[in-house]
Amino acid sequence: MASIALQDVSKNYGKVAALADVTLQVDDGELMVLLGPSGAGKSTLLRLIAGLESPSAGEVFIGDQMVNDVAPKDRNLAIVFQSYALYPHLSVGENLAFGLRMHKAPRAEIEQRVRRIAGMLDLDQHLGRRPSALTGGEQQRVALGRALVRDPVAYLFDEPLANLDAQLRNEMRLELVKLHRSLGRTMVYATHDQVAAMTLGERICMMRKGRVEQVGMPLELYRNPVNVFVAGALAHPAMNLVPCHVMTADGTKREDGALFIETGHVRLRVPTPYTPAYRTYNAQEAIFGLRPEDVHAEPSDPGWQAIDVEVVALETRGAETVLIAAIPGLAGFDFAARLGRHYRAPIGSMQRLYLDLAEMHLFDPRTTMAVPRDI
Ligand SMILES: Nc1ncnc2c1ncn2[C@@H]1O[C@H](COP(=O)(O)OP(=O)(O)OP(=O)(O)O)[C@@H](O)[C@H]1O
Ligand SMILES: [Mg+2]
Repeated sequence: MASIALQDVSKNYGKVAALADVTLQVDDGELMVLLGPSGAGKSTLLRLIAGLESPSAGEVFIGDQMVNDVAPKDRNLAIVFQSYALYPHLSVGENLAFGLRMHKAPRAEIEQRVRRIAGMLDLDQHLGRRPSALTGGEQQRVALGRALVRDPVAYLFDEPLANLDAQLRNEMRLELVKLHRSLGRTMVYATHDQVAAMTLGERICMMRKGRVEQVGMPLELYRNPVNVFVAGALAHPAMNLVPCHVMTADGTKREDGALFIETGHVRLRVPTPYTPAYRTYNAQEAIFGLRPEDVHAEPSDPGWQAIDVEVVALETRGAETVLIAAIPGLAGFDFAARLGRHYRAPIGSMQRLYLDLAEMHLFDPRTTMAVPRDI
């Protein structure tokens, strides 16, 4: 078992900076999810940890050891690649056993581990088949199994569930969580799937364009995103993010009194506890953020503030209805609300909604950074 660390790591491919100044600590036994859109640098980061690429700058550590000059085979990591290749001439069972045979594990132990992993991945009945006789999803499970059957210091997963259908993906995700609990091994898991990241990760490392945007526990990122990018990820529908103007009641630069934000024709009062923090933006433009679950159809709490919006669309999701609305006077921005499953309203009608502004966020439009609420 071992921790993994990257210190000021950059990786350039010619002019392309695949990773820029990444510093990241994955604790011993931790499951860290690398989350980010295509091109974020997730695979590059995993390949650097595995030693399949060497950094252009910076240092990679496994445990206490700086491993920049350690060959991949000597790092004792198990990897499931984004584009895996099985040995086509070997059976599923032999594919699973391959790594253990290479390391000259005892025969009985190999057999026992292969059986256990095959059972877990629902591959028992396929052990004698060649990979060409399997579906894409089954092949992906074999690729996963090949890594899981081993006993490395850490596992690296690169989109290991991408080829599975939704149900199997959910099952496998749960299996991986259980496996992580029972093995207690360090795992680094790359994905662009926000649901996977939220449910799997003990911590999430949110990446974009080769940079780390925020690292933290899933709920930490969800509740306190450091910038607009992180705020807009992690959920669907994502946090509502609309331009606003911060102002006092009479539009002056007063240093006290109530603070408001105006978006379109709607004026909202900033909750008192946040006014000291947000007052620095008085008389300036900002970005107002509110999650769709903090928008309600009924005024259950006297603190919620009413706004009237135009119904653009309703998405019936079974467990809930998502209302997509337009704020009067604010063109080009959808405002989503997660409402009860029985919510109905005619498209084009005006409806009253209630905002829980205790959950609001404010972002600086120039830097896109969140304005800290606690001074
Ligand atoms: N061998 C390479 N040569 C040149 N550029 C590369 C190479 N490998 C990666 N890149 C570039 O580095 C950047 C990061 O790529 P990377 O594959 O790490 O992203 P990713 O987050 O894994 O994306 P995806 O979700 O699509 O797998 C991209 O701009 C990519 O084009
Ligand atoms: Mg990738």
